[in-house]
Amino acid sequence: MDEKKRDNWGSSVGFILAAAGSAIGLGNLWKFPYLVGKNGGGAFVLVYLILLLVVGFSITLAEIAVGRKGKSDAYGAYENIKKGWGGAGFLGILTSFLISSYYFVIVGWVLKYLVQFAVVGIPHDSGQFFQGFISSGAESIGYSVVGLIIAGVIVIKGVSSGIEKASKIMMPLLFILMVIVAIRAVTLPGAMKGVEFFLKPDFSKITGSVVLAALGQVFFSLSLGMGIMITYGSYLPKDSNLIKSSCMIPILDTFIALLAGFIVLPAVFAFGFEPTAGPGLIFITLPKVFEAMVFGRFFGFIFFLLVFFAATTTTISLLEVSISFVIDQFKIKRKYATIGIMGVLAIVFIPNALSFSTLENVKIFFGLNFFDFLGYMTDNLFLPIGGLLLCIFVGYVWKKEDVIKEITSEGKVKFSLLDIWFFGIRYIAPIILVIILLQATGVLKI
Ligand code: PHE
Repeated sequence: MDEKKRDNWGSSVGFILAAAGSAIGLGNLWKFPYLVGKNGGGAFVLVYLILLLVVGFSITLAEIAVGRKGKSDAYGAYENIKKGWGGAGFLGILTSFLISSYYFVIVGWVLKYLVQFAVVGIPHDSGQFFQGFISSGAESIGYSVVGLIIAGVIVIKGVSSGIEKASKIMMPLLFILMVIVAIRAVTLPGAMKGVEFFLKPDFSKITGSVVLAALGQVFFSLSLGMGIMITYGSYLPKDSNLIKSSCMIPILDTFIALLAGFIVLPAVFAFGFEPTAGPGLIFITLPKVFEAMVFGRFFGFIFFLLVFFAATTTTISLLEVSISFVIDQFKIKRKYATIGIMGVLAIVFIPNALSFSTLENVKIFFGLNFFDFLGYMTDNLFLPIGGLLLCIFVGYVWKKEDVIKEITSEGKVKFSLLDIWFFGIRYIAPIILVIILLQATGVLKI
């Protein structure tokens, strides 16, 4: 596509908010607190932060650089830099598509809770309420489709007037609402036990599986390894400062994850619940917390509203990866590309949403149902493979001088850690990724 015709971000703040909006999502608000709860509290947080510094920043920068240089969708960007590499980008597009198909199912759960808190009240028997809803089939598909339509309405408007504008509204709101709820949570009587669990590392809890869980979470939370940062980077003008952006995105993402920890864990501890509930933590345990809290319905509503904002800035990025592929490669208008992708996705939702009812016992591979299987495949295989291909590409395939030129905007931006960064992309990140892959495929047992 003609470069002039490609949409661009209106400002670098807009790009940072949109990219951080993609990174900040259910991974921060739903997954991070329950992973902390399951993996020993502060120890997990510490390992997470270290891995974020070591691999998170460097891969974010590499991905954005590929996008800005390639100036196309994830497939086209790789292909434009080096013929024959488009497949690496295509894998990313496929991964983001598969992730969307189950991500929207969880967005549907969030919407259901939002409506419940707003219109009906706090669900009394939250365990039964949750089970009842996720196994409802049609109702759960319906809520997911509503989430899909909301994201679609934003994406159809384009990069600067859709995605960027929505992110500029939703991200600051998300931040303000989170601070309000976090202040409420940490000032609850008994909340300090939760804060301590969250912050105080018990080093004996650091095991191989904790490190792997933390690493998987770094990838998932930063939306790495699936073409999102490539796609978003491709809408950046040549003179923007890539280093600054790739620092800001992980910083904002981590800030929100930590804030989510400060909301969920103190609240759970204050009312004497266990933090080890796993995926049900915010859907089953938190409603009980809100029930026991003064103005609980209000805080519950605000909480699910902010989760919804966070999830929506993510779903728009998931859609955008596939849409930009269709627009750039097949020269189809954004409007039709968006409607087409939404249509296909709505069909793929069905087996995901039915994984908790009709298809509950239909196991695909590894004894997992469709929903769990997709989650397992994308988190443990496709994301690390996507990340590994990216590291190989930037570290070995793309000419080093060209990489440096792109990262420093032809020498205009100073980057004092350039050598360390390049070393990380060439050696450290790939080794770590290979270890995850071996572990995920059962070759290595940690
Ligand atoms: N980063 C998103 C989150 O934290 C999840 C995500 C993963 C989005 C992969 C896109 C791709 O919720």
